[in-house]
Amino acid sequence: MVGFKNLPGAFGVEVTDIDLSTASDGEIRQLLDIFYRHQVVVLRRQDLSFERFDDITKKFGHQHPHFLDHLRMRGHPAILMLSNIYENGRQLGVHEGACFWHTDVAYLDPANSTTMVYSVKRPRDGCPTSLADCFGAYDALPESMKRKIDDLVCIHHYGNRDFQSGAAEKNSKFEAERMTEDQKKKVKDVYHPLVKRHPITGRKSLYSVAGTSWGIVDWPEDEAVALLRELMDHCLQDRFITSIDYDVGDFAAWDTFSTLHCATPLAGAGPDDPNARILWRVSVNGLSPLYRLEETYQGMSTAA
Ligand SMILES: [Fe+2]
Repeated sequence: MVGFKNLPGAFGVEVTDIDLSTASDGEIRQLLDIFYRHQVVVLRRQDLSFERFDDITKKFGHQHPHFLDHLRMRGHPAILMLSNIYENGRQLGVHEGACFWHTDVAYLDPANSTTMVYSVKRPRDGCPTSLADCFGAYDALPESMKRKIDDLVCIHHYGNRDFQSGAAEKNSKFEAERMTEDQKKKVKDVYHPLVKRHPITGRKSLYSVAGTSWGIVDWPEDEAVALLRELMDHCLQDRFITSIDYDVGDFAAWDTFSTLHCATPLAGAGPDDPNARILWRVSVNGLSPLYRLEETYQGMSTAA
């Protein structure tokens, strides 16, 4: 029986008694049930080949190769490299471009539903990811604010809204990863509800109020940004925050509909530097193929 225990922070769990290298679909379904309830899962000391990691991620949804195609693993487009390694002047993966609060791939439609990482190289000093519980943050809002925001639609595009603004201290220091000229031509606005109902559980979340949310439909820009910053600051209170670090072999997943996250800055390193880091990351959208639609909030809400 797959088990779990709470992480030390405000939410998220460490899942136990499952070996991902051999887990059956039945065991992975138990893992998914825990994941959708707790939003963040960590599985320690797994031993996964590239092929098995790739296979596991497909149990969480539909793989979506990342927009930053120059930072994907060569020959394996579904895997985005997260790394501080520079070799012969070439950047191996996303480095400081994730060191601000954001939701992965909220700048596309369909948006990301789950992000998964697998730790291949641990930096000597560690490099945790902080995450915020946006279900809990929504639930804690006054009813008047819930009524004000429940039907609003946000405008998203690639980047960090608060970079260098100085007006949002917690999120102004790092820009999103730089794009190539070809990638810049593909940036466009997409629209997502500010309050998102989770397709599996039906819980309401403050969706992606940091990072890629640049405005609110039919609102003046200054008022929209002020409200989004107010909601971001609300989400980033200690009572909603957890943190995970990774040893070699650790697998983690976070639900991107109900969390914000932020990487820790780490100095650049050569490939043999003791502080070099490599995480493999896969993004998926849609629902797990191990769930039947009628088992989900989405299925229940559309049933005749
Ligand atoms: Fe991210």
